[in-house]
Amino acid sequence: MNIRHCIEPTDLSRAEVEQLISLAKDMIAHPNMYKEVCRGRKLATLFYEPSTRTRLSFTAAMMDLGGEVIGFADAKSSSVSKGETVADTIRVVSNYVDIVAMRHYKEGAPLVASQYGSVPVINAGDGSHSHPTQTLTDLLTISRELGRLDNLVIGLCGDLKYGRTVHSLINALSMFEGIHFVLISPDNLKLPDYMLSALRESKNITYTESKEIESVISSLDVLYMTRVQRERFEDEQEYERCKDCFILDSNKMSIAKDKMIVLHPLPRVNEIHPEVDNDYRAAYFRQVGNGKFIRMALIYTLINIAEREKIKSVVGNELEFTNQQVPVLSSNYEKTEKVCSNPVCISNSEPLFRLQVNKDGHILCPYCDNLIV
Ligand code: NCD
Repeated sequence: MNIRHCIEPTDLSRAEVEQLISLAKDMIAHPNMYKEVCRGRKLATLFYEPSTRTRLSFTAAMMDLGGEVIGFADAKSSSVSKGETVADTIRVVSNYVDIVAMRHYKEGAPLVASQYGSVPVINAGDGSHSHPTQTLTDLLTISRELGRLDNLVIGLCGDLKYGRTVHSLINALSMFEGIHFVLISPDNLKLPDYMLSALRESKNITYTESKEIESVISSLDVLYMTRVQRERFEDEQEYERCKDCFILDSNKMSIAKDKMIVLHPLPRVNEIHPEVDNDYRAAYFRQVGNGKFIRMALIYTLINIAEREKIKSVVGNELEFTNQQVPVLSSNYEKTEKVCSNPVCISNSEPLFRLQVNKDGHILCPYCDNLIV
């Protein structure tokens, strides 16, 4: 069955992202119209890694559509503690629910789930790799606050190495026009090489790098602050050295544009001083609110597509979709004996085999995007 998943932001075309944003805006304007549309449907939240916002936001989203939610909030309370693979867990859970939201510390785990399950899978964050629903949240927020998603100067500040929200936002914005990123990070927290080389090759995106906020803030339309991702550091001392590398305060805000907005996926640690919260340009708590509505739009859309596909498989081909996309894994993936060198990639702990050989002979791991040779 040709069901759709949301594993990477680029699984959606620009037109589809815009459709989801319009749907979310309609849900914000007319919540009562949608309060029964998922009646009788179930969402499973499979969270193998801690979360407050994302899990509760998925739960609230499904409840506001009239649906129900089952799941677990940490790996210890699931069969993974008995050694069960993601592939087996999803085959089991697919029997109980209509859609799954999965967060996992292993990069590529939600992609594995989408390959082995029979219901739509939404990636709710996999390691340092990707976080597409946070990105959709960010895009809805920028669209609501600034009225556009093209022609923007966006400062990405903090942990650009481990911050999955930054990685996904960059990928998604590569579908839009006239985007310039200012990458603000210390040397040891710069974007991973695979992302920097994608940026260099991108036709739509330009970027510059900076080691401080002060010298660049006045040029920005959006300042996207991020937390230093303590849990992903192998060396605690290295974390201590860079944990307070950037702190946004009122002084710095005083030189920003009147229309600049500050975003943060939250949780915040020290990187935004609380005095900034009262500034009308601080949009991070409004961003949280948008997260629930964009997840409502995504859940509703993916369930609808899956149900129409189910009908199609029973009654034949009469129903057509206008926005059908190629499934995530296509025949471009060739078998190879090579294994991924990323220690937190799911392909090292589950019996998988498909790696992608690029035109130039490089092998990209399809699960975590790591460049293998
Ligand atoms: C982010 C995440 O989990 O990656 N938070 C979120 O989903 N709202 C950012 C973070 O943990 O720093």
